[in-house]
Amino acid sequence: MFESTLVPPRVSRHRSGSRPAIVIVTTLIVLLAMALLASCAGDAPLSPSDDPGELVIYSARNERFVDALLEKFQGDTGITVRALHAGGGAVNRIIEESRNVQADIFISNDIGALEHLRINGLLEGSEPEGVETIDSRFRADDNSWFALSARTRVLMYNQDLITAEEMPTTIWELTDPTWAGQFAITRGGNGSMIAHISALRYEWGDARTAEWIAAVKENAGAIMEGHGDIRRAVGAGEFAFGLVNNYYYHQQLLEPTDNNVGVIYPDQGEGEMGAVVNAAGVGLIKGAPNAENAQRFLAWVLLPENQREFSYASMEVPINPTVQAIGQAATIADYRTHAMPLSELGEVFEGTKELIERSGLDLELR
Ligand SMILES: [Fe+2]
Repeated sequence: MFESTLVPPRVSRHRSGSRPAIVIVTTLIVLLAMALLASCAGDAPLSPSDDPGELVIYSARNERFVDALLEKFQGDTGITVRALHAGGGAVNRIIEESRNVQADIFISNDIGALEHLRINGLLEGSEPEGVETIDSRFRADDNSWFALSARTRVLMYNQDLITAEEMPTTIWELTDPTWAGQFAITRGGNGSMIAHISALRYEWGDARTAEWIAAVKENAGAIMEGHGDIRRAVGAGEFAFGLVNNYYYHQQLLEPTDNNVGVIYPDQGEGEMGAVVNAAGVGLIKGAPNAENAQRFLAWVLLPENQREFSYASMEVPINPTVQAIGQAATIADYRTHAMPLSELGEVFEGTKELIERSGLDLELR
């Protein structure tokens, strides 16, 4: 059933047959001890005999950015984590399984996907401890999902090819023929691209957004599979700049070569729309088979050290301003951000994909 598992599924958790009274008393003592431990989320490891059960996670994030976090959770709690790294297929899988729910938690790199599931009744609200550390703009009204790290749309440029002063300062300028062939974008079906275009629809309406998509597609020097391809190509000087999420800039800075890159946070001027922010976060799946462990995970991931881990692995920036950002990274308080609440992304998710295709930008590379 799993395309990829962090650890193999447990074989059996239930034993049958009658037990002597002494065993029942022992069991009660163990349960009491477990309850005491569970009352403070994410602390001392439990011994295997306590059998804290499992947690099934579907993740759309890059596997590299999730595994260390899940291993830490497993180490902290003793709960066996089974992870399916389903990429862009996670949302459809959760929808398909709605009558036979398999997953407890969905980790997403796009709030639009989380809100899309919530609107369709596939997420469950709750009140995990620590959720108030996340600004209400970055969580669902019922906390059925909350964001942990920000991903902001920026223009990363090669400083050997262009200066900050020469760079475009707005997203609209990518339609200007001046830049023909000089920049790279991703395919239309990339989750961050979909969310970005949803924000443009919110700001500009569909006609102007369609015009932007068609012109940018025409102007782009390359349309690439993912942002990793763009950052490497810009770093190598194949293009002057690329439209990426901010953490790709921080990733490129760490490369041993091809690292002479700069970043522009677009639309920062008075009256301009501000940089478009999306986020990565987690959602609680309705009917989660391991609901208690899912609750433990939510409270655990909201502990500051784990919020930090969630963001740092990918070099994103924590949403919670009291959690320190990685070195040199601008926090979302440092620049003008687009005013749209992230929950707006959910309703337009399907419509945006249609608009992208209709405007001539393919969702997948051909
Ligand atoms: Fe990414």
